[in-house]
Amino acid sequence: MRVRKAVIPAAGLGTRFLPATKAIPKEMLPIVDVPTIQYVVDEAIASGIEHVILVTGRGKDALVDHFDRAPELEQFLAEKGKDDLLAMVRDIADKCEVIAIRQKEPRGLGHAVLAARPAVGDEPFAVLLGDDIFDADPPCIRQLIDVFEARGQAVIALLEVSEEQTSAYGVIKGTPLNAAEGTPLNAAGGTPLNAAGGTPLVPALHQVEGMVEKPAKGTAPSRLAIMGRYVLPPEIFAMIEATPPGKGGEIQLTDALDRLRAARGVIGCAFRGTRYDAGDKFGYLQANIEYALKRPDLAAKLRPYLRDLVGK
Ligand code: G1P
Repeated sequence: MRVRKAVIPAAGLGTRFLPATKAIPKEMLPIVDVPTIQYVVDEAIASGIEHVILVTGRGKDALVDHFDRAPELEQFLAEKGKDDLLAMVRDIADKCEVIAIRQKEPRGLGHAVLAARPAVGDEPFAVLLGDDIFDADPPCIRQLIDVFEARGQAVIALLEVSEEQTSAYGVIKGTPLNAAEGTPLNAAGGTPLNAAGGTPLVPALHQVEGMVEKPAKGTAPSRLAIMGRYVLPPEIFAMIEATPPGKGGEIQLTDALDRLRAARGVIGCAFRGTRYDAGDKFGYLQANIEYALKRPDLAAKLRPYLRDLVGK
């Protein structure tokens, strides 16, 4: 079944970015000049998603406004003849349908996903967490959707992290399903390589055999951490309902996913691309610098500036 809907949990208070997030949602903080939420919605749209479901909370109305038409602003831009900006602000509102549902209490990521149930209904859906920003082609969630459509099991994004970082993530135990990164193509049908040589065209897949949310130091089952992209069948909702509060007293999506794994299987997808942790100050700064360096209007000044700065 085609994946048409995406759930974006965005109800968190953003305490890691206080005071910036005292009066504005953390998802509105820009990377260069685009709010982080827009990168996530753009990734969903570029992956074929038609309906975006934002799970919001109190004080998050700016997110809904951002994806709505803005008549006064549009009129102002039209009168000033700023046609490019006018087209840009209109496009944000017009390019897909965004609806918002409120998570009434902050009871964890699993609980936030469950809040989207009335809008998702009985079909598979994608989940994209706004703290994880991906620079990937095809987009990260598209890579996962392709695996879901081919194999019919839930798919989660994986990234190999250092041993010390494992306690900040959901971590899986798994068995590789296809050839690992860098494995040359073999005649018997290994991982296909692209023309440039050496880079596999397909992401590395793992059959998940267990997962644990934020394992205590030294207890992680592997270094494969769950990143904030998931493609889930509607059966996940019943699993979340049956999941008691876990780590931090919250209803964890990872715990519900482990139940789903035991019942129907879950595949881990070590996606191809770069991920930025925009929920962390350093990761946020990295994303700002690297996205600015991709912009011709800024790179010409920023590159020599950064070189001079580190030379000092
Ligand atoms: C959430 C999930 C965790 C996952 C992480 C990815 O944690 O609970 O399993 O590894 O996102 O960013 P959070 O960072 O919201 O605490």
